[in-house]
Amino acid sequence: AVAAPLVALLSYLLGSLPFAVIVSKIMGLQDPRTFGSKNPGATNVLRSGNKKAAILTLLGDAFKGWLAVFLTQQAISNWGWAPTLLGVSAFFAFLGHLYPVFLGFKGGKGVATALGVILALLPWLALATAATWLIIAYVSRYSSLAAIISAVFAPLFYLLGAKVVWPMNASIATALVLISAFLLWRHQENIRRLMTGKESKIGSKKK
Ligand code: G3P
Repeated sequence: AVAAPLVALLSYLLGSLPFAVIVSKIMGLQDPRTFGSKNPGATNVLRSGNKKAAILTLLGDAFKGWLAVFLTQQAISNWGWAPTLLGVSAFFAFLGHLYPVFLGFKGGKGVATALGVILALLPWLALATAATWLIIAYVSRYSSLAAIISAVFAPLFYLLGAKVVWPMNASIATALVLISAFLLWRHQENIRRLMTGKESKIGSKKK
């Protein structure tokens, strides 16, 4: 009975680690919440002009999501905890990134963290989703557009692969739909900027 709240809390705390802010601070860079889109995420850290910081942010934010789900997987296989906890862990790690306790609940948009949790849940789904992101990003040069389109496709890819590549798991399916919905909702300003031609392209510097 304590397992679900415990998994939710620990996953949320891991997800709350704001690597954009941590990495920028350690590397002596400006706080990403003060320039560009003001979003604490890898895309906005890249606007500082420091590629290494952006990559470390991406890796850190993905890793924390992966780790939360990985630890839950260990508890399931070693201690016989319920497999439904996978969805709980995935969703709460993602939610931690959006509403981090360490940043007054003002976090990022969840793209890297979503990829990390999916990588732990279903590596093939992560590959398909990351490939979608890369193709759209390469063609359009918009990080946000790539995230929006990938967020629409990830649950569809999940359904396509269910029963064929992986077993259907209601808790994972629910988590994926919720993650997609929150991720799209967090991109509303980006959607507005995309529609008015004001979105900045990948690699353009901060203003
Ligand atoms: O990872 C978030 C990305 O999709 C958009 O970031 O800074 O352009 O709002 P940003």
